[in-house]
Parts: sequence; C-alpha cells; structure tokens
Amino acid sequence: MNPTDPSIIHGVSRLQAWSDEQRRAGKRIALVPTMGALHEGHLSLVRLARARANRVIVSIFVNPTQFAPGEDFERYPRDLESDLAKLRPLQVDAVFAPSVGDLYPAGPPTWVEVDGLTESLCGRGRPGHFRGVTTVVARLFNAAKPDIAIFGEKDYQQLATIKRMVRDLCFDLEILSGATVREPDGLALSSRNAYLAGEGRRQARALSAALVEARNAFESGERGVSRLLQVARQRIEKEPLIQLEYLELADAESLGPLLSGAGIQRSAVLAVAATIEGTRLIDNTVLEVV
Ligand code: PAF
Repeated sequence: MNPTDPSIIHGVSRLQAWSDEQRRAGKRIALVPTMGALHEGHLSLVRLARARANRVIVSIFVNPTQFAPGEDFERYPRDLESDLAKLRPLQVDAVFAPSVGDLYPAGPPTWVEVDGLTESLCGRGRPGHFRGVTTVVARLFNAAKPDIAIFGEKDYQQLATIKRMVRDLCFDLEILSGATVREPDGLALSSRNAYLAGEGRRQARALSAALVEARNAFESGERGVSRLLQVARQRIEKEPLIQLEYLELADAESLGPLLSGAGIQRSAVLAVAATIEGTRLIDNTVLEVV
C-alpha cells in the first residue's frame, strides 16, 4: 500500500470508530458524499474539504433508494479502482465504500423526508428521489460523524434539501457547497455525461448556454419571469435531441415557482432538467437580487 493511499472502510461501525479516533485526536473531519464515477466536479469538492479540515472522508455509494424503477441504477458507472486513482493525489484520509447491506440493514428502511422543498422541480418528475437522498445522507452523517459535509451546487435542490434536513434534525455539522465545474463548452460536469456521445453531446451544451443567455438578460436589467424563461427556452428549442423536462424560475429559498406574469423581486434560481438520448441532465444558475 502506498503511504498516500486512503484507508478503505466498508462497515458503518468501522467508520464510526475511525472518526471517533480522529475526533479524540482533535481533528476536524470533512465528508464528501459521492456516488463514485468521480470527475473534476467531485475532486474540486475534495480539495475544498482538504482546505477546511484535517481529515477528509470521501464516501462512494450508488444509493439504490434515490433511483426509481426504470432509472439508471443498474447501469450507473461504477469503478472503485479508477475512483481511488483519482483521489490518490488529493490526500484523502478515508474512503467509505459500504455495501447496500451496510447502509440498509434488512427490513423496511427508516426514511428521512423533507417536505416543502422536494415536491417542485426535480421532485415532480422523480417522486421519492429526494427521500432517498436525505435518507442515505442522514445515514452517512451518522456513520462519518463529520464536522463539515460538502455538496456540489449543480444539484441546487438537493443542496437546499440537505441544508433543511441538517437544520431540522439538529445535525451538528456545517454544510458547505462547491461551484459547478464545467466542460470548456459550458456543459456541467456529471457522471452521467459518460452516457453522451456525438450529436447528443454536442447539443447538450445548449442547456448551460440557455442559462447564460437568460442570466445575461437578467444582468442587463430584464426582470420579467416570462421573458427570462423565453430567452432560455428559445436557445434550448434550437436543439431537437433535447427533451425538456422542466425549465423554471423558482424562489431561491423556498423553491416555489415564480408566476409567469410576475417580475423577479427576490433572488431566484433558474433551473433546467432535460433528457438527451436517454440521458437525464440538470443545471441551474442563481439570479441574485441584492
Ligand atoms: O449527489 C450525489 O452524488 C448523491 O445524490 C449523494 C448526495 C451522494 C447521495 O447519494
């Protein structure tokens, strides 16, 4: 084993014991939860963790409870060896790679569910998805006992939901977020980008381009909800392979939809979800009102 290799931990009680030991030694622990298939977006979160804590845990677990039947749970990319190779230069202290049985002991699971933030946007097309996310993240928090946990801003609704769960369930930790990392043409990095190829991949850039065009209009003073949505929609509609699931302006805090006849008065998130040749992608940009 190379001295820079992290400890690979599979069981919850092993990870709890490891974290207890670090805490007793006065170390500050950061957790970066992932589903593996690591890309530069994840690695940027790990670097942030490294800068903010003395011990970094990366969890790698493709969580079955956040996938609906017919989604890509089975084909989701899994390659622990390649993930470990990407983490090696970043001096991660522990990689938590549990089995399904480690995190979900037999029998019906105890669910953690956040109401209010999870029904709109992605929640509409993926009922039960956020319940799966909060359930597994709560388990990961209890297993890793981190002082800090770090999530990407690409999934704005997930981040907002996890922050609410931490507040409501009094988890004693701080949530930090890392900016979305993009390909040179603007496409947000995602493990699912591996499914894209050829013309589909080329057209995928329209999602971020649409957000940029609407954002530019907002920065030039446009406040009309319908107009901003129209700017973004026009860009996406140029690409026939893109099947739009939603393109919405929502209140940045409540995630409630902004009425189409209204103007933006408080910070809002412009969020998009679309499928391209069977691959579901999401992206967002925050339009800040100061
Ligand atoms: O964002 C993800 O990769 C997952 O939803 C998370 C937070 C690791 C929970 O499975």
